[in-house]
Amino acid sequence: MAYTIDLDGKVAIVTGAAKGIGKATANLLAKAGAQVVIDDIVSQETVKPVLDEIGLTGKQPFYIQKDISVEENCRELVKDALAQFGRIDILVNNAGVVADWDKSYAIHVKALHFCSEAVKDHMAERGSGRIVNITSTCVLTGGTGIPQYVATKAGAYSLTRYQAKTYAPLGILVNAVMPAVIMSDMIMTRYASEEEMQAHYIPQMPVRRIGYPEDVANVVLFLCSDLSSFVNGEIIVADGGRMYVG
Ligand SMILES: NC(=O)c1ccc[n+]([C@@H]2O[C@H](COP(=O)([O-])OP(=O)(O)OC[C@H]3O[C@@H](n4cnc5c(N)ncnc54)[C@H](O)[C@@H]3O)[C@@H](O)[C@H]2O)c1
Repeated sequence: MAYTIDLDGKVAIVTGAAKGIGKATANLLAKAGAQVVIDDIVSQETVKPVLDEIGLTGKQPFYIQKDISVEENCRELVKDALAQFGRIDILVNNAGVVADWDKSYAIHVKALHFCSEAVKDHMAERGSGRIVNITSTCVLTGGTGIPQYVATKAGAYSLTRYQAKTYAPLGILVNAVMPAVIMSDMIMTRYASEEEMQAHYIPQMPVRRIGYPEDVANVVLFLCSDLSSFVNGEIIVADGGRMYVG
């Protein structure tokens, strides 16, 4: 029999899940049987097709519209998810932006930590939980000219280690994924067309392709599953080998 990852009965919050990596992650967690709570800032109208698409998995996602750059909204997101489903097993801190210094810090660092702190006590009561943070290889490479993005994604990196150390005794495992060159609206802000983007990156990619949101979602699923039961404080690079062997 083929091995399956079964998240049936588990509840997962994914921040910034109306598109890109967050959406692919929400979809995959739902496919694995989790009840998914999608957080984003987009309207109900905009998110509806996303909810419908993920609903095809057989698990209808629940949308909570919260701007997590506001500290109180992080706590409200968790409170609303708990009120709706009574438990939270997984938190994926995925929301990200290319923005000014304050907004970048508010989302990549503060929101990541406030959302984690908000789920921590609940997860600790049950003695189990998984948190996956999305950082970026730019933390190690210096990135491509957006200092506030690089510096604040470094916050996500170091908070992963901090949380892994302080939450693990409570039964909560914390890890991160460090993607690069993943097709999304965020990466496309720097290119006029997909062809231009591909022409820029493919020569640097040992795997001779760019990444897609599902490439990252697969790693997140692993980090939310029993397969990673002894993995804590790990930061997994998902960049097709570009950083180390490109
Ligand atoms: N695409 C890449 O190549 C790449 C590389 C490295 C890291 N990342 C990281 O992956 C994550 C996902 O990025 P993506 O490429 O899918 O980008 P994306 O722009 O497609 O998606 C980001 C999502 O976050 C949401 N969001 C923004 N501000 C928010 C807020 N205040 N509250 C709630 N939601 C908010 C957006 O509405 C959007 O749906 C980000 O953390 C990003 O930094 C992406």
